[in-house]
Amino acid sequence: MQIFILTLFPEMFEGPFKCGLFQKAVASGVVKVDIRNIRDYTHDKHHTTDDYPYGGGAGMVMKPEPIFEAVEAIKAGIPAGEKVPVILLTPQGRVLSQEIAKELTQFNYMIFICGQYEGIDERIREHIVTDEISIGDYILSGGELAAMVVINTVGRLLPGFLGSPESLFSESHTDGLLEYPQYTRPQEFRGWPVPEVLLSGNHAQIAKWRQEQSEIRTETRRPDMGKRWRLTKMENGLG
Ligand code: ADE
Repeated sequence: MQIFILTLFPEMFEGPFKCGLFQKAVASGVVKVDIRNIRDYTHDKHHTTDDYPYGGGAGMVMKPEPIFEAVEAIKAGIPAGEKVPVILLTPQGRVLSQEIAKELTQFNYMIFICGQYEGIDERIREHIVTDEISIGDYILSGGELAAMVVINTVGRLLPGFLGSPESLFSESHTDGLLEYPQYTRPQEFRGWPVPEVLLSGNHAQIAKWRQEQSEIRTETRRPDMGKRWRLTKMENGLG
């Protein structure tokens, strides 16, 4: 998957793609990240990327020209026929979920636009953006951190990203339940033992315990998820 990011602050992206599993995925070619500075697509002496809002009001608005030009330049380098989502990070977008992340794994190319300041010219949203994503009901100072979150969530679902892809099956949010508690050595730490059943070697018992723990955790921590999970189970005739 090739990911393009349009931002006024490319230096913000120096960390997340250069550490751990993401760095490995970039090195092995599972994900390619191309960070472009919106300022490079301006033509005036001052490299202007924002301007006052028509109608007045506080704050500045990001200008359409450099963003359109950047998206068009990127698209010109992508094979014709490829579907390329142009995703704007904004608190007005659909809220990121594991399902949305999964949906985005189908694309070979994606373009992310990170907004700054008070907003962006509406014509960007109307005529070049194809999807709007929020990472939650709170306001960041710009779309950069949100883009990192979306890209990280999508990237780790790509084939070849995870060392042990089977961990995708048991993790929180994948099957509508939160993940069960995990333990490693030592068997007893400061007087707190690992639950007996995990030492039993009885795989059926362990699986049953984990399922129960997942259900209890989901019901107590995320009753909204628990309700949805019970409904799905009933619909599938398993409840
Ligand atoms: N930009 C500012 N706040 C945001 C949010 N919550 N999600 C996505 N982009 C944003």
